[in-house]
Amino acid sequence: MLVLAQISDLHLDGTARGTERAERVMGHLRGLGTRVDALLVTGDIADHGTEAEYEEAARVLDAPFPVLHCPGNHDSRGPYRKALLGEPASDDPVNRVHRVGGAAILMCDSSIPGQDEGLLDDTTYAWIEATLDELGGDIPVLLAFHHPPVALHHPLPDRYQLQEPDRLAALLDRHPEITALITGHAHTPAATTFGGRPLLVGPGVTWTLRLPWEGEQIADRAADPGFAFHVLDDAGRLTTHYRTVPA
Ligand SMILES: [Fe+2]
Ligand SMILES: [Fe+2]
Repeated sequence: MLVLAQISDLHLDGTARGTERAERVMGHLRGLGTRVDALLVTGDIADHGTEAEYEEAARVLDAPFPVLHCPGNHDSRGPYRKALLGEPASDDPVNRVHRVGGAAILMCDSSIPGQDEGLLDDTTYAWIEATLDELGGDIPVLLAFHHPPVALHHPLPDRYQLQEPDRLAALLDRHPEITALITGHAHTPAATTFGGRPLLVGPGVTWTLRLPWEGEQIADRAADPGFAFHVLDDAGRLTTHYRTVPA
């Protein structure tokens, strides 16, 4: 059994508020120690994509368990690579595969530089296919990226969702080993399906989306930051628990 924590949308911007909320969640998760097998961070780690924001992210995300991350629409690939991954700056998509216990987690880059909607581009699809071929199809695979490929019934995230969802659905048809999709971006803990798989959306650390029937103001900045536990059991079933962390 694997216990995977997920945080999303930290939007670190150098302000005390942003740092405090991210530190609050990370302090809670660090306290769980290695009972957490890995932490997934599904994008919008920085708010403006500056190197200073990623230097702060590297400090905030330090943990006793592996921390796996991918960019969102607020991230910037060059500074992300340099300050968070310690690699030479480059504008290529940031795609990484991680083996955690008996599973593989693909952290994929759905950002389009300079735009808010998402896309898994040709380079990323080629990387996903090659990585899945190499893994061989007999271990469970989680696919994580920033932009949900479906509407979540709020005009803001729905305007900027993942483009070309049919291409992703076709990939899922060819690869039954993909157990679930994990995304962020919508700043609301949500659960739905896509291509016959669970699609789990992580809550936002920075603020929580108010749904249209919950009020006029889009961002609930008073809501406590949240995270998810995704539990992958030995039968290959993924169960998700959502949490908030009060001050
Ligand atoms: Fe965000
Ligand atoms: Fe986003």
